[in-house]
Amino acid sequence: MSNIKLDFKNSKIVSRQIMKYAERVEEIHKELHEDAKDENKFVGWLELPSEYDKKEFEKIKKCAKKIRKDSEVLLVIGIGGSYLGARAVIESLTHTFYNALDKEQRKSPQILYAGNNISGAYLNDLMDLIGDKDLSINVISKSGTTTEPAIAFRIFREYLENKYGIKEARKRIYVTTDSEKGALKTLADTEKYETFVIPNNIGGRYSVLTAVGLLPIAVAGINIDDLMAGAKIAQDKYNDQNLKYNECYQYAVARNVLYSNYKNLEILVTYEPKMHYLIEWWKQLFGESEGKEGKGIFPAGAEFTTDLHSLGQYLQEGRKNIFETVINVVEPLSNLKIRADEDDLDGLNYLEGKTLDFINKKAMQGTIEAHVDGDVPNILINMDRLDAKTIGHLLYFFELACAVSGKILEVDPFNQPGVEKYKKNMFKLLKKAIY
Ligand code: PA5
Repeated sequence: MSNIKLDFKNSKIVSRQIMKYAERVEEIHKELHEDAKDENKFVGWLELPSEYDKKEFEKIKKCAKKIRKDSEVLLVIGIGGSYLGARAVIESLTHTFYNALDKEQRKSPQILYAGNNISGAYLNDLMDLIGDKDLSINVISKSGTTTEPAIAFRIFREYLENKYGIKEARKRIYVTTDSEKGALKTLADTEKYETFVIPNNIGGRYSVLTAVGLLPIAVAGINIDDLMAGAKIAQDKYNDQNLKYNECYQYAVARNVLYSNYKNLEILVTYEPKMHYLIEWWKQLFGESEGKEGKGIFPAGAEFTTDLHSLGQYLQEGRKNIFETVINVVEPLSNLKIRADEDDLDGLNYLEGKTLDFINKKAMQGTIEAHVDGDVPNILINMDRLDAKTIGHLLYFFELACAVSGKILEVDPFNQPGVEKYKKNMFKLLKKAIY
C-alpha cells in the first residue's frame, strides 16, 4: 500500500468543530472541480494525475534516459515552485548522501541546483564542484523572466558552450517554460533547445507533477510512473465532497479551526532528514498560497530530533500560537540495531536489541505528548513508507489541502502578488529600464 492516514486525536479539536465546515467544503469542492475545466483558472493540477499529457510524459522519459547516459551532472536551474518539488522528491527518495557517493554506487547523475539565490560564491563553488564532469542543464521558469534563474542560466550556458562548443551545448540544454511567452521561451526557440511546457492552468508551486518536477526526478532514477500512480490514488481518494470521509479536507479545516483559536503558526515536522526539502516545498506551497490580505498561518518546518535541541525549548514553553503537523513514516527505509557493550560505559545497554526506528518513534511519541501538554496541538500524518507512490500521494494531498484551506480562509490560493514588491524595488535600484 501507499497509504496516508491522519490522526487528529492530539489536535485539541473535536469532530463537531470540523464538521461545522461541511457545507463550505462541499461548495469549495464543487468550485475547484468546475475551475479545473477552465483553462484560465489555475486548477489544472487537480485532475493532472488522470489527465496528464502522455506524449510529454514519454518525452520526459526519453530525455531523462539521454541525460543519464551522457551526463555525470544535471544542473537544475530554477527558484521557488520551479525547483522545490523536484528537490523534495529526489532527496526524499534517494540516498541521504546521493551527490557525494561515487558514480558506481549512485548509478545516476549528480543532481545539483542553481538559480535559487544570487550568490557569486555559490555559483563559483558550484563550478568547482562540477569541474570536468559531463554536464546537462534543465532550466525551469514558468514566466521565463525570473531574475535568479536567468542569471544562473546565462553563466552556465556560457560555461557549457565553452566546454562543448555551441552545437553540442545546445543538445545538453533542456528548457521547461511557458508554451508561448517569456524571454526563456524566445531563447529556447532561437537556440532550438529541447523544450517542455508548463501548462497554462498550473502555477509554479502546484507544478511538481508536470515536466517541472518530473524531468529531474526521472534523471535521478526515480520511477515517475509510480509517482503519478500514487498521486492518482490520492486524486481518487480525496475526490469525496463529504468532509466526514475526506481526511485531506479535514486537514484543511483543522488548520483553520486552529487558526481561529489563535494558532497562527504551523510547524511541519519530520523525523526523517531525507524529507528536509519536502518541508521546504510545503512551506512554499502554503506560504505563497495563504499569506495574503493580512491573513494566513505562517508555515515553518523542523527536523526532529535535531531541532528539539534548538527549537524544543521554545515549542515547549514559548508563545502559545503554534501547532505542529508531524509526518510519521511508518515503515523505515533501513534500520540499525543497538548491540550490547560489555562495559556499558555510555549507559546504553538498556537499549540492547532495539532498532533506531523504534527509538526514533518513542522520541516522536514522547515529544507529541510533551508538546500537547505545553498547549501545542498536534496533527499526525502517518505515511506508509518513503517510496515514489506514497510521495506522489503526499504531494497531491498537500496541494489539495492547501487550495481548500486557502479558500476557507477566503484568499486566492493561486496568486502571489506580494512577491512582486521586492522585485520592483530591486529593479529600481538596479536601474532596469522597464519593471
Ligand atoms: O509558485 C510560484 O508561482 C512561484 O514560487 C514561482 O514558482 C517562482 O517565483 C518561480 O517563478 P518562475 O517559474 O516564473 O521563474
